[in-house]
Amino acid sequence: MEHNSTSYQDRIKDFDWSISEKELGYKRGDVLNIGWYCSDRICQMGKADKLALVWENSAGEERKFTYNDVRRTSNSIGAYLRSLGIKDGDRVCLFMDKIPELYIGFLGVLKIGAIAQPLFSAFGDESLFVRLKDAGTRAIITQRKHVSKVRKILAQLPSLERIIVVDHDGKKPLQEKEVAFSIYDGKGVESLDIFPTTAESPSVLHYTSGTTGQPKGVKHVHYSLISQYLTAKWVLDLKDSDIYWCTADPGWVTGTSYGIIAPFALGVTQCVQDVGFSAEGWYKFIEKCKVTVWYSAPTAIRSLMKAGDEAVKKYNMSSLRHLCSVGEPLNSEAVIWSERVFGLPFHDTYWQTETGSIMITNLPGMKVKPGSMGRAFPGITATVLDIHTSEPITSPGKVGLIAIKPGWPSMMRAYWNNEHAYKGKFKNNWYLPGDRSSIDSDGYFWFAGRDDDIINTGGHLVSPFEVESALLEHESVAESAVVAKPDQINMEVVKAFVSLKPGFNPSGDLELEIMNFIRKKLSPLAMPQEIEYVKSLPKTRSGKIMRRLLRAKEWGQEIGDTSTLEDDE
Ligand code: PRX
Repeated sequence: MEHNSTSYQDRIKDFDWSISEKELGYKRGDVLNIGWYCSDRICQMGKADKLALVWENSAGEERKFTYNDVRRTSNSIGAYLRSLGIKDGDRVCLFMDKIPELYIGFLGVLKIGAIAQPLFSAFGDESLFVRLKDAGTRAIITQRKHVSKVRKILAQLPSLERIIVVDHDGKKPLQEKEVAFSIYDGKGVESLDIFPTTAESPSVLHYTSGTTGQPKGVKHVHYSLISQYLTAKWVLDLKDSDIYWCTADPGWVTGTSYGIIAPFALGVTQCVQDVGFSAEGWYKFIEKCKVTVWYSAPTAIRSLMKAGDEAVKKYNMSSLRHLCSVGEPLNSEAVIWSERVFGLPFHDTYWQTETGSIMITNLPGMKVKPGSMGRAFPGITATVLDIHTSEPITSPGKVGLIAIKPGWPSMMRAYWNNEHAYKGKFKNNWYLPGDRSSIDSDGYFWFAGRDDDIINTGGHLVSPFEVESALLEHESVAESAVVAKPDQINMEVVKAFVSLKPGFNPSGDLELEIMNFIRKKLSPLAMPQEIEYVKSLPKTRSGKIMRRLLRAKEWGQEIGDTSTLEDDE
């Protein structure tokens, strides 16, 4: 099948978000509920029997859901939550692996006007605790295998009233506040009163890492659908006949915006694999499902490259017609490699949790410049600001801060309970994502790194602050500093510098113990891949640790005059 051949110029001419509103049949002021748009509306359009979700796990189990199944099962989750007293505006956490209940539960939560709070299921109890506490979450939907993490923190979470276990097998008794619910009881609810949310009603609360404080809850509203629908249609090029695979986990924003909302709102069939990464496993999945559009991430692409061209050749990849990538810099080698082995380039897309949808990208048919993120999506005004003056840079090639004019539909509306941090994201009426880039004379953006200390490991943001705080909870750690260290596959990994308390001696065993401690408390992503023992850490005169100095050493960069670093931290 051909790409939509409309040119970039045609797309931006007279662009208005009402294009998306019209296609969705939405009029300003009307009820707007993402849960309804992603299931009931598709059924009403005559696609009730079309496959919405094809799912498999590592045990070889397979499940298929039509749009009507998704509609009825999300109704039943919504009705069940209501029966527990959950109402509009309540936060309901989805804490599951990539199982069907996660995708369908997300819609069920939205249908009753509650706020969906997805959290990465590999989070440890501490990561889970700070996010549930901040959000004042009322209910959590989870699996047996994760319930012990919730039990551990329950006593400190008075707002958490219900723990809904979707795969309770009756073998072990449920404990305080726990209830069992299954979507496989054969009793899908035929009709549900959808809560009449409107454009500005809150929909999703995603937590993202901050540099200096606890993670921030990014509040989105139902109107985000307008951006998510159109960007998926134009950038991912999704069409009715597509079989789509988004490899992201809905614990993170790509997995919700483009792993649930956009594909379902467009009525396409999507495939989901709840299996750990393996190159051949992925190729086999593409061959088996006949995936046509594939949205993935640079770390995965680099891992595929490492597995070699021979692995690709063993499978039939001819169904693929469009490839996209997100989350971290997509190096030019990865684009050139994909052109060689799949005959298709990966199209980069740049955005973040706060933007809710793709901001800068290579639209299909646009010339891909390997290594560049592409141009601003139609309707998005993006530029780079001078790092010192905050004025827009006019000379091509000069690096500055990425800045976007506020006002697109899927923009976050707040950081939960953190007005101060929210305000800090704006300057001179520009929204600042916190990244650096240059723009060339054709308007293409070239990513040049983050403007803060946040570590992007394999496309996942990790806050050095969170890891440092957790390290201090280990009995042996006196002080720590956490920075990014270069890595061939993940681009960056977490490295910790640690000084030990008297009575503790540096050793390999202690290093492993500390690593494991962080893995369990926070997550495997946040676990330092290396711990370097130091007697003391470099500090400013006022006593703050100079992370940037440590980072510069890891990256073999010039440290220069350290006095200039003192105020940065
Ligand atoms: O630093 C940018 C990087 O990932 C950050 C956003 O992370 P998160 O909120 O977790 O959302 C990830 C998925 C949308 C950005 O501020 N990033 C994202 N896409 C790219 C990127 N860096 C370089 N190139 C990209 N295409």
